[in-house]
Formats: sequence, structure tokens, C-alpha cells
Amino acid sequence: MQKSILITGASGNLGHAVVQKFVQADFKVYGTDRSGASMEGAEIASVDLTNEAAVNAYIEQIISKDQQLNAAVLLVGGYASGNLLATDGAALQKMYKLNFETAYFVVHALLPHFEANGGGHFVLIGSRAALEPNAALYNVAYGLSKSMVVALGNIINAYGKDKGIRASVVVPSIIDTPPNRANMPDADYSKWTTAEAIADNIHFLFTDAGQHLRETVLKIYNEA
Ligand SMILES: NC(=O)c1ccc[n+]([C@@H]2O[C@H](COP(=O)([O-])OP(=O)(O)OC[C@H]3O[C@@H](n4cnc5c(N)ncnc54)[C@H](OP(=O)(O)O)[C@@H]3O)[C@@H](O)[C@H]2O)c1
Repeated sequence: MQKSILITGASGNLGHAVVQKFVQADFKVYGTDRSGASMEGAEIASVDLTNEAAVNAYIEQIISKDQQLNAAVLLVGGYASGNLLATDGAALQKMYKLNFETAYFVVHALLPHFEANGGGHFVLIGSRAALEPNAALYNVAYGLSKSMVVALGNIINAYGKDKGIRASVVVPSIIDTPPNRANMPDADYSKWTTAEAIADNIHFLFTDAGQHLRETVLKIYNEA
């Protein structure tokens, strides 16, 4: 039977590659972003994931027509620079909403469905700044918001044990994207990771071998 998966941030630099990977692997792919622009082989919707009511309505709509949905890759997020002195409450709120709420609201809406269906798998996207203080020195709000995403993965794993529910956390270094190249023109891009490599690693989590992994934190750093 065809497996179904939800991928948020579908139009993003990483999201696009992840959608393509799962479409090619013959998954039924539901994607979200803000634009709702169509992508071949996937059913894309425009949903503001910082709006909890809109997330709840969207999740209700897809699970009412697809009871098989038992996987979600939550890629929405974004970056902001700023050291401790430069990070005020507004900066914290902005990153919290974009990186944490957008993941949390989907987890919260999907969890009862996963539980009723005997299991499910969330893939969350962290950041090196969530794991290493030195990597958060110049992007404090970003690092703190991503550390909450990592903590959410741990809580899902504690809650979901014996329920067939689990979370994996993907931690990329710098992804080779057009915006990163534009911001760091002198960098050695060959040391960065790629959206395609991350997509392949996420897909591995859903293979027969990958299904055996637990409490997985994938540090996809390459040489960066
Ligand atoms: N790029 C890196 O080097 C890097 C490194 C470590 C971690 N990450 C993480 O990897 C993830 C993907 O990064 P990326 O570079 O692919 O980002 P990106 O190109 O900026 O894509 C972000 C995606 O999120 C969507 N989005 C943004 N705000 C939204 C909202 N409120 N509601 C619904 N969708 C929203 C965007 O939709 P629209 O296009 O329609 O606006 C887009 O699809 C992020 O969580 C990022 O923090 C990235």
C-alpha cells in the first residue's frame, strides 16, 4: 500500500528536494508552504503554520481523507543573526514562532491521529546552534528556538515509546543554497551539505533498516 507523508516548508530550498525525493519513492506527498504553488506529484496547500487554528483545520482536512498518513517532515524555519546583547524579546518571539510554533502546532494536531492509528513518525529540523553553544553565539534567538525543537523531539520520544510514535531530528550544518552562497561568497561550498543529501538521509529513516532507528539525531555536517 502507498505510504503517505506530510512535508512542511515544501517550497523551501530543502523542502523542494525532500518533496522530490518522496514523490520519486512513490509516497503520497502532502506539502505545505505559504504560497501553495503546485509541485509535480504532490498535493500542496497554503497554510500559515504560525496560525494554530489554520493548522488544526488543515490537519483535520487531510486526515479525514487519508487515514494512512503516519509521517510528517517538519521543515519550516528560518534564521536570524544577533548575539546576546542584540537579542531582545521581539527577536526571541520571532524565531520562536517561526522555528518552534510551526513544528509544535503540527505535532499537536497530528499526535491524536498517530496515537489512534497505532503510531507515526515526526522528522524535525534542528540546527548546530541548538547543540553547540559556540555555534549559537551570533544567532542566539535562532539557536534557542532550535534547541526547543530538539527538546520537542526528545519529549515526543519519551511520550511515544510503546505507542509506536517517534521523532527523529535532522541537524544540518550549512546547506548549499542560493541564499547561503549569496551571504557567504568566499566560503568553500564543497564543505557544506546539500539539500539532496539531507533528503536522502531523511528518506533512509523510512526504509526497512531506517525504521529500526530510535531517538535519532542525524548530524549532517559534511566538512563544515
Ligand atoms: N539553510 C541552511 O543552511 C540551514 C541550516 C540548518 C538548518 N536549516 C533549517 O532547515 C529548514 C529549511 O531551510 P531552508 O533553507 O530550506 O529554508 P527556506 O528556503 O527559507 O524555506 C522555508 C520554507 O518554510 C515556509 N514557511 C516559512 N514561514 C512559514 C509559515 N509561517 N507558515 C508556513 N510555511 C512557512 C516557506 O514557504 P514560502 O516559500 O511559501 O514562504 C518555505 O517553504 C529550516 O527549518 C532551517 O532553519 C537550514
